Amino acid sequence: MPDIAVRLCTTSQTRRFISHSQDELKQKAAEAAISYIGPKLDRKSIVGVGTGSTANCFIDELAKIQHTFDATVASSEATQQRLAAHGITVLDLNATPHLDVYVDGADEIDGLGNMIKGGGAALTREKIVASAANEFVCIADDSKLVKTLGAFPLPVEVIPMARSLVARALVSLGGQPIWREGVTTDNGNIILDVYNLKIDRPLDLERRINDVPGVVCNGIFAQQAAHVAFLAGDNGVTTLDASNP
Ligand code: 5RP
Repeated sequence: MPDIAVRLCTTSQTRRFISHSQDELKQKAAEAAISYIGPKLDRKSIVGVGTGSTANCFIDELAKIQHTFDATVASSEATQQRLAAHGITVLDLNATPHLDVYVDGADEIDGLGNMIKGGGAALTREKIVASAANEFVCIADDSKLVKTLGAFPLPVEVIPMARSLVARALVSLGGQPIWREGVTTDNGNIILDVYNLKIDRPLDLERRINDVPGVVCNGIFAQQAAHVAFLAGDNGVTTLDASNP
């Protein structure tokens, strides 16, 4: 476990070593998020919902308390379909000026709540919906906690005609972009996965990549860093409170 500059507290009731599958850990992180947001919700609350296997666990748990809030906003077509299948109301973001909370997984998270996201190619809508929310709650298994972001290749959503241009710009920033062939985002764009980037100043790099013409969005979530994260491991769920270092 790396040194991190935030308050960590373990909420497990038992310290016995039990080995859990990654799916079980994702489920535990999702349940922890429900316990955290549940008391804050009321009949007017709108919940932003992320994308991916951990977010799917969260959706299934959210369905059990759907009478306690008003509606959701989805960060992808897949999430919209899963929410709707549970009978949960899904609103268009344009009809929803304000979200109480956004809950989503991550591919990597550091001790300050900065993340890499976009392994599921939903980064652009995830960042948009997250930016409309008061609070970002990250849920993940604790293998996603890193000291410095960048071992996971950074997803960048790109307008198709700018693929080569953007790839050259990413090389000049020190990365090795690989086209995720066969993948088209919900917005009709492509993904470049950038290997070997040194991400020691996430906010700075997030802005520099956004400045490249043709880039729609990149998977560094520093401007939209998590406020709190629930990271599930074999010894329980650790709370990373990035707003209270
Ligand atoms: C999708 C994402 C996901 O949150 C991220 O890839 C983590 O996914 P999973 O919960 O399946 O591990 O950013 O674009």
